[in-house]
Amino acid sequence: MKFFIDSADVEEIQNLTDTGLIDGVTTNPSLITKTGRNFLTVIEEICSIVSGPVSAEVTATDYETMIREGEKLSSLGTNVAVKVPLTFDGLKACKILSDKKIMVNVTLCFSSSQAILAAKAGATFVSPFVGRLDDIALDGMDLISDICEIYSNYPSIKTEVLVASVRSSKHVTEAGRLGADIVTIPGQTLRQLYDHPLTDKGLDAFLKDWEKGGQSIL
Ligand code: E4P
Repeated sequence: MKFFIDSADVEEIQNLTDTGLIDGVTTNPSLITKTGRNFLTVIEEICSIVSGPVSAEVTATDYETMIREGEKLSSLGTNVAVKVPLTFDGLKACKILSDKKIMVNVTLCFSSSQAILAAKAGATFVSPFVGRLDDIALDGMDLISDICEIYSNYPSIKTEVLVASVRSSKHVTEAGRLGADIVTIPGQTLRQLYDHPLTDKGLDAFLKDWEKGGQSIL
């Protein structure tokens, strides 16, 4: 399973990339705005840090402008994946950009019928938002299960399932159980994956015992 970082914070992305565990980055207009920085500069910087796909989202809603924005975003780095919303125009833009060999991430996916269309439009990635479905009392992971099952019926589908709107370590482990290709995780949630009180307690006890022995490895 691949791990993307869901962030536009360059310092955080650098720190997490240094672990060697990060395969890509996703951003969205809200995350970019939160940084208070220039969109294009931020994407260029992220592309220089991460060699895997970096999703940068168009903000136009008509397909012609989406394509122009997508081409501009794609020129910022060879690893840019242009993010388009799962709308009629977004699907049209996806098909045209994909035909031009530009990676496309179709975002804001909330149903399996939408995911089928994204694959049909040649999307590199489809982003179902699990947390936002949970927020309205549905089960986001049911959608991941459905999409993974449907895609697996058609080996010719190359679209990768990118689980987005991830809010907990449970979302990550469930995504792995269902065989999703990628999870995109905020930095804070990534830390939840390794933090465990018994790890901290155990390490503390080992180090206290070690100190009593007065030895040193180096
Ligand atoms: C990723 O591509 C999405 O933009 C992101 O996961 C949305 O997450 P949120 O629902 O927590 O805002």
